[in-house]
Amino acid sequence: MRLSDNIILITGGTSGIGLALGKALLEMNNQVILLGRNREKLAELEKAGFETMSCDLNELSDVEKASVLIQNKYPQLNMLFNNAGVQYNYDFTESVIPLEKISQEININITGQIILTQLLIPLLSNNSNAFIINTSSGLGAFPKPDGVVYSATKAAMRNFTVALRYALQKNSIGVLEVIPPVTDTGMTAGRTENKISADELVERIIPQLRRERKVITVPRMRIFLWIAFLFPSLANKILSRP
Ligand SMILES: NC(=O)c1ccc[n+]([C@@H]2O[C@H](COP(=O)([O-])OP(=O)(O)OC[C@H]3O[C@@H](n4cnc5c(N)ncnc54)[C@H](OP(=O)(O)O)[C@@H]3O)[C@@H](O)[C@H]2O)c1
Repeated sequence: MRLSDNIILITGGTSGIGLALGKALLEMNNQVILLGRNREKLAELEKAGFETMSCDLNELSDVEKASVLIQNKYPQLNMLFNNAGVQYNYDFTESVIPLEKISQEININITGQIILTQLLIPLLSNNSNAFIINTSSGLGAFPKPDGVVYSATKAAMRNFTVALRYALQKNSIGVLEVIPPVTDTGMTAGRTENKISADELVERIIPQLRRERKVITVPRMRIFLWIAFLFPSLANKILSRP
């Protein structure tokens, strides 16, 4: 794909991986629209040269409004990164989980972004060099017990990506998946395992985007995806090691 002179929308663009990606793409001479909830952060980011869009992916009416604004303001939009995500770690087997927590995690991670994508397909179809790039997670392939709902949403994102790729062949829209390894962002604050920085991850993502790799990730994640595919119990054992 061409990585300059695009109009790019990034959900979850106000921090972490989305922001690092946005910065790299802005430097490569693209118009970058960052979507998030935090209006103060969005105002700051506008000063740094980004376009911004306020939208709470948990509110489906917000998603519809954002899609109308995008269609009116950015008719040349040709790339959508569905990157927003939250991970709430809790014991799913406990009887007192606030039910809202479950529905929020599902809405933000999958439902809101599936609907945003559907609403933007007519626009993307009209433009050349059109791509949808979805951020999933290794946990979509090797789920973990303290992230039952998160793992389920990321498995959904993985299947959404593949099904959409087939469905959009006739529209000439490419559909790719990014699977980050554990990356040092707000989402992983407090976790002690080896993390790479969001900037380093983006350095690895950019050449793979250029080559239109269907699954964009780092080598050790590719190996682990194979282990999880062939020997799911072994993957679970490795992950459960203290
Ligand atoms: N970090 C990792 O190790 C890792 C590993 C695998 C996959 N991932 C995936 O990578 C993606 C980016 O995560 P990150 O690590 O960069 O996390 P992050 O720094 O916490 O960023 C999450 C982003 O999602 C946005 N967001 C959260 N709730 C939202 C809502 N209701 N409506 C709209 N936007 C919302 C946040 O924006 P506002 O706060 O402005 O709303 C923020 O920009 C996620 O999909 C995550 O699942 C991360």
